[in-house]
Amino acid sequence: MDNPVISSERLILRRMTKDDTRNLLEIFSDPVAMEYYPSTKDESETMEWIKWTQKNYDEYGVGLWIVEDKVTREFLGQCGIVPQEVDGVMEMEIGYLFARRAWGKGYATEAALACKHYGFEQLKFSRIVSLPDVNNIPSTKVAERIGMQVMKTINKWGKEVYVYSVSI
Ligand SMILES: CC(C)(COP(=O)(O)OP(=O)(O)OC[C@H]1O[C@@H](n2cnc3c(N)ncnc32)[C@H](O)[C@@H]1OP(=O)(O)O)[C@@H](O)C(=O)NCCC(=O)NCCS
Repeated sequence: MDNPVISSERLILRRMTKDDTRNLLEIFSDPVAMEYYPSTKDESETMEWIKWTQKNYDEYGVGLWIVEDKVTREFLGQCGIVPQEVDGVMEMEIGYLFARRAWGKGYATEAALACKHYGFEQLKFSRIVSLPDVNNIPSTKVAERIGMQVMKTINKWGKEVYVYSVSI
């Protein structure tokens, strides 16, 4: 088992591998969890997602990580730092997608906060953003709970998203 990249009070964040296909499909096949994405994802699209994530690890040293319960190692979701273009500038975005059974427990906020600290303290980023769909209230609440503020709205992924941001 890969060493955790990040550990917090209740959670560990570790690198994603192709063995996570089944874990990720719990989220990607759920139309409720995928409400703000273009569609659900099937197995081959999930494998593409893992390849894209591993490319981010190789190229940028960051990407989405698998979030597990620290004690039981149960899969809960994914959270991490993903390079994204915002108005022609490469920004570091904190992203989070959790299995529905893990919502409402503060896990996304705890994981996102740990990523923020990791980004600022270990990776020396000076600014981190989040790009929630303007209608995705739970996601905007996570951004606010970790101390981000709305800067503006932009069109990305064919829809309107907020640019939330926090700087050191
Ligand atoms: C976005 C998403 C991760 C938010 O998950 P969440 O569980 O609502 O967020 P949190 O982890 O911050 O949990 C907060 C909730 O848990 C509750 N909670 C329970 N125990 C808690 C604890 N120990 N600490 C903090 N909050 C706790 C809070 O009261 C809060 O509930 P509320 O929003 O009804 O007030 C989740 O909705 C999701 O995975 N959605 C699908 C994917 C997606 O859209 N991702 C965003 C793309 S931009």
